Amino acid sequence: MIWLVVIPGVLVALLGLFTLRLHLRYPELRWDWSAIDVDDVDFPRDFVWGTATAAYQVEGNMPSCNWQWWESQVDRKGRPRIHEGARAGVAVDHYNLFRDDIRRMKDELGVDSYRFSVAWSRIEAEPGVYDQAALDHYGEVIDALLAAGIEPMLTLHHFSHPLWFEELGSFEHEANLDHFVRFSERVFAEYGSRVKRWCTHNEPGPFAVMGWGLGAFPPGVRSPKRAMRVLGNLMLSHSRVTKALKAMPHGDEVEIGLVKNIFQFEPWRRWNPIHWVLARILEAGYNESVIGYLKTGTFRSTVPFARHVQVIDDGPAPGDFVGLNYYSHLLVTPFTSTEPPFETFARPGDIAVDMPYCIYPEGFYRALKQIGEVGKPVYVTENGLPDDKGDRRAHWITTYAYAMSRAMTEGVDVRGYHYWSLLDNFEWAEGWVPRFGLFGVDYETQERTLRDGAKPFVKLVADTKAKRRERRDQEAEAS
Ligand code: FCB
Repeated sequence: MIWLVVIPGVLVALLGLFTLRLHLRYPELRWDWSAIDVDDVDFPRDFVWGTATAAYQVEGNMPSCNWQWWESQVDRKGRPRIHEGARAGVAVDHYNLFRDDIRRMKDELGVDSYRFSVAWSRIEAEPGVYDQAALDHYGEVIDALLAAGIEPMLTLHHFSHPLWFEELGSFEHEANLDHFVRFSERVFAEYGSRVKRWCTHNEPGPFAVMGWGLGAFPPGVRSPKRAMRVLGNLMLSHSRVTKALKAMPHGDEVEIGLVKNIFQFEPWRRWNPIHWVLARILEAGYNESVIGYLKTGTFRSTVPFARHVQVIDDGPAPGDFVGLNYYSHLLVTPFTSTEPPFETFARPGDIAVDMPYCIYPEGFYRALKQIGEVGKPVYVTENGLPDDKGDRRAHWITTYAYAMSRAMTEGVDVRGYHYWSLLDNFEWAEGWVPRFGLFGVDYETQERTLRDGAKPFVKLVADTKAKRRERRDQEAEAS
């Protein structure tokens, strides 16, 4: 009879120990902000400040691409795929208004860099047929940026691609990678002498998981196994593209990197072993698999029923830097919805943004430290928040800048930061609701207005520029 007490008692004790171990090993960092001076930041003179956009979200009129097709689709329950059935349409007409937008970046923000993506579906609307007018368009964008003293940072794949590539199964099939490598070479041949920083893939994790895991992005598949296959292929694609471009003229003069998004997955209840198991599985599949590949060259998914190992490189992944997109962490429970609308899980005192997550600058610091372990320079390629009321943007910017400065003080080699986004834009499956822009956009008139909440960002840029001027003056005096 005693075993009826002893055995459950031992099991509970073991579970308790297991949870305690995870709790200590993976702390959810929280700073005492009342004791922090967020203005206590220090960015080096040559720190690169920039903003970011992606073609589909801002350009407008992008036919024959996967996302345009997706906009006309409905989910299993017959609901439109995009929130409120929204369409990107003319978006914020950045395709035509890019000169004004570049002038704003120069005059109103003063940034050094602009991260944007080229639309593969415009450039290669049919396999192997390149549209010179589309190539010339991005050439003009690049020239306008350079003339404004802004460095272009070009992303080759930012979620959208031609419909023909989608119909081939896109990155789910290794054989399709040849198309992307060839396209990348064509683009590099065109701009390799003018663009110094290149991103291969934007956020392989969200692209694979939203597209093939949760089915919220095209192609709308819900299979963790297939999602992990896509993720592995994206690593391979990064490797192949990087090596191909490095071998081309100007290849050795440019910096190339993969853009990794980090959302830490953490247990909603830190004393609940089930929450921990779930958080660890997601963390391993989404973050550690990609970071592991960057460090070792091998992609390894340990997700149950979606185990996948792909040996890609014999040693660390190729590339000159790692791009980091960071927004927040996600608190998970077994009841977390796996379909939109996703809900927000917040701790007491957390400030939520207009998408299902909260302001968490400590997570940015943690992510920078984690990505810093890859051993390459880091560019923050995206960071920002959806804030329609405009009452949280300034807080976000100052606290995240503080977290970044702290990580840098502790040795992480961060070279630059790009705010997401320059403009309000079409937020994928969320449509037109989230407002991410430093500039608000009136979608009727396309009028842009610098938001009040953007001021701390403008100040950070100005402070770094002042340091540069000071240095120049000192040098001039000395000579
Ligand atoms: C990132 C995407 C970017 C934008 C922001 C809010 O996941 O890379 O295009 O949608 O989120």
